[in-house]
Amino acid sequence: MAHSPLGDDDRNFRESQTSYCKLGIDDFVSGRKIKFSIYVRLMNDRYVKVAHKGEDISIDRLRAYKKKGLAFLYLSQDDFNAYVGFNLEFSDLRKEGDQEGRARKLALMQASAEILFKKIRHEGVDPYVFEAAATFVEASLGALTDDRVALDMLVALQNHSDFVFTHCLGVSVYSVMISQRIKWSLPTNKFKLALGGLLHDIGEKELNQHMLSQSKYDWSDEDWKAYESHVLLGYEMLKEIKSIPEDVRQIVKQHHENCAAKGFPFQTKKIAIHPMAKLIAVADEFCYKVLKTPDSDGMLPVEAIQELTERSSDLFDKEYLGALEEIFKVPRT
Ligand SMILES: [Fe+2]
Ligand SMILES: [Fe+2]
Repeated sequence: MAHSPLGDDDRNFRESQTSYCKLGIDDFVSGRKIKFSIYVRLMNDRYVKVAHKGEDISIDRLRAYKKKGLAFLYLSQDDFNAYVGFNLEFSDLRKEGDQEGRARKLALMQASAEILFKKIRHEGVDPYVFEAAATFVEASLGALTDDRVALDMLVALQNHSDFVFTHCLGVSVYSVMISQRIKWSLPTNKFKLALGGLLHDIGEKELNQHMLSQSKYDWSDEDWKAYESHVLLGYEMLKEIKSIPEDVRQIVKQHHENCAAKGFPFQTKKIAIHPMAKLIAVADEFCYKVLKTPDSDGMLPVEAIQELTERSSDLFDKEYLGALEEIFKVPRT
């Protein structure tokens, strides 16, 4: 049987009715008083508190946990929302007691977990780095979909196009990994990138389903025009989610702008593009290359990054592209 790191006297078992978010141990700010209670998961979905709210949690203690094989810790979903600064006062599925909404959310979360851990390619990535990013995305999706409007939008996107929904989960994970690598360590920034990835192509749920399932090489000029509209469609749609941070709306609006000022919809100059939109743009292009689309079965991650750096490096921010190279351990030529 597993033992509490605090010893038997301090065990504080909780039943699993509370929902918990799994986070990589490196996500926790150390050496400062923690604002939330932290748990580990035992057998049978039971959780034991290992650090109490207001306690000092040192780097040594975190290292000791990691040595014991405890690479992941848990926060309650409410505490995760507070940790990433997400304000859900407008639409909280749990407070409404909305059984049908909760069932839909559960189905979406289960389908997303399956995609995250089975379809998002991560050959060559340190397994802990990938799992920490994927679980952060899961927790962010859990927070976002307590908003009924956001839940409805994402379920509609999933029903509209499997591949676009999978792509959005991929962009979210790759963006979180890049942010970790460049040490954007504030939880609120990582959370905005996770949401930006999940929602950046939400406007595509308004596009013709048949067109989306076809190769882009077969699209007409009109199809391309319709496709380019997904950016501003999505930006407008996000006005309906009252809790969405403005930075996330900017990501959606600018994710197809590029550093050569040749993107769409506004050919915005590099200096005027939101840094988070520039980061998402790298993850977005990478994701198109490595995941299955109507155009391809997906390239090897290393080849995709080499192609990006050789052919399109003027379009993308070098720091974020360099971080992707490091994450996938691309050999320098
Ligand atoms: Fe897009
Ligand atoms: Fe995209």
